[in-house]
Amino acid sequence: MKKYVILISGRGSNMQALLQAGLPGQCAAVISNRPDAEGLDFARGQGVTAVVVDHKRFPDRESFDGALMVEIDRHAPDLVLLAGFMRILTPGFVRHYEGRLLNIHPSLLPAFPGLSTHAAAIDAGVCIHGATVHFVTPDLDVGPALIQAAVPVLPGDDAATLGARVLQQEHVIYPAAARWFLEGRVGLEGGRVRMDGLAPADGALLSPTP
Ligand code: GRF
Repeated sequence: MKKYVILISGRGSNMQALLQAGLPGQCAAVISNRPDAEGLDFARGQGVTAVVVDHKRFPDRESFDGALMVEIDRHAPDLVLLAGFMRILTPGFVRHYEGRLLNIHPSLLPAFPGLSTHAAAIDAGVCIHGATVHFVTPDLDVGPALIQAAVPVLPGDDAATLGARVLQQEHVIYPAAARWFLEGRVGLEGGRVRMDGLAPADGALLSPTP
């Protein structure tokens, strides 16, 4: 059976969606860089090994990423899922997991990389916002997309209401992307997403009109 590891830093609602999705694989571990991440308790409650590699105990990014890699590789995962993991990763880390490292970002990339994406979308006056699951490449938030969900920006929205609408869709598309990967239906080849029996449009999820 394929194995996956989930990295979190906080709430862990995407991790929860992944663990409850009945994925065709075993979650070998949930790893947090913060000892107080709320998601750790949920993982333990599901009988999943949940461990902390506290970034504050390391002098620099390289040594933290090195320790994190040791902890991840202990489980020999086929797939590593970043689920609200709030650390910039070193190129060495990204290369090590190239082709088996996915992230979820709360915007329709390449629009609004980085933080505060919902406020940025409202400030920009866009009509459509959303979320993207993408392969991780050394540059922040620019890797090839596997699946995207679009949601409308509604009159009166603020970052919180828009973010909640996006998060609902994140919980749909991240398990879907993880399932495709674990089933061997998608992969990364020559910097592009390979899809077997899937068309790019299969990764375009439009939320129902409210
Ligand atoms: C999500 O919005 C995700 O897209 C972003 O960080 C947030 C994490 O939320 N990368 P949660 O911890 O999964 O609830």
